[in-house]
Amino acid sequence: MDRNIGLEAVRLTEAAAIASARVMGRGDEKVADQAAVDAMRKAFNELNIRGTIVIGEGERDEAPMLFIGEKVGRGNVDDPEVDIALDPLEGTTITATGGPNALSVIAMADKGCLLNAPDTYMEKIAVGPSARGAIDINQTPSQNLRSIADRKGVYVDDLTVVILDRPRHQKLIAEVRATGARIKLIGDGDVAAAIATCFPATGVDVLMGTGGAPEGVIAAAAIRCVGGDMQGRLAPRNEKEIERARKMGIPDVTKIFTAEEMAKGHVIFAATGVTFGDFLKGVRFFKGGAETHSVVMRSKSRTIRYIEATHHFEHKPNYNT
Ligand code: FBP
Repeated sequence: MDRNIGLEAVRLTEAAAIASARVMGRGDEKVADQAAVDAMRKAFNELNIRGTIVIGEGERDEAPMLFIGEKVGRGNVDDPEVDIALDPLEGTTITATGGPNALSVIAMADKGCLLNAPDTYMEKIAVGPSARGAIDINQTPSQNLRSIADRKGVYVDDLTVVILDRPRHQKLIAEVRATGARIKLIGDGDVAAAIATCFPATGVDVLMGTGGAPEGVIAAAAIRCVGGDMQGRLAPRNEKEIERARKMGIPDVTKIFTAEEMAKGHVIFAATGVTFGDFLKGVRFFKGGAETHSVVMRSKSRTIRYIEATHHFEHKPNYNT
């Protein structure tokens, strides 16, 4: 996959981040999400790719834009054919309340290389490169934490584990507490948390628990680009979700997926901060424009590029502000 696509992809996340950051704190998740979706959809029209959305806003009948199967980009036969996993606004509630770590994210890979995950839950464990090979979702949380601590050469007490603050995680939280590890409970945003494990400056070592399956694939794409490690197993809530997974090409819903299985081949990942977070700054507005902070990563080269951009709306007719 052409490396320049990465720098093109970031235009999409920048546009979506700016649009949703505009309505930060309004207490309206739908408005924030819609703003991001509209902006990203519009930005796709400027991109020379032949893209197919495999992880998007939902099925065609439930999402008018950026739906699964939608063809995006203005590419012609000479332009690359890519599969796309996106979340124009990861952290709708975060944005609605002005909390930390809302992102606009996109991953692109060669055709057929991203797992078509159904919109169910996924049990996940993710770590950065320094604990690669030390995780096994079949083991208990305490066994995993011991193994991660050993690999990192630290005590279990020194580890920080991020867990979504949900009633379903009561047992997990109790078990992690019993190991002595430190816990950071988050209200939303397990994509940002999974990525944070790969950046030591964030102080986050492990993501554990159950979140969205589509978010799992997006996080796996980012983790592939950095050389971290992740495992995920679908956690369907009923027969209908199991059936849906089968229809989407996952016959065995108990299968454990590695990051490499969720995002294969050459992967490009781009994210822009919407609100301030652990590894990206949020959008800052000034008169007539905005500043954004993004990261672009490629699995092939493992290059991680941070992009600080200054946008002048007067010269960007597409930015609907
Ligand atoms: P949205 O941006 O769609 O609101 O998702 C936020 C999120 O917290 C994800 O990061 C996470 O995977 C999922 O929701 C968890 O789902 P639930 O809120 O149902 O526990």
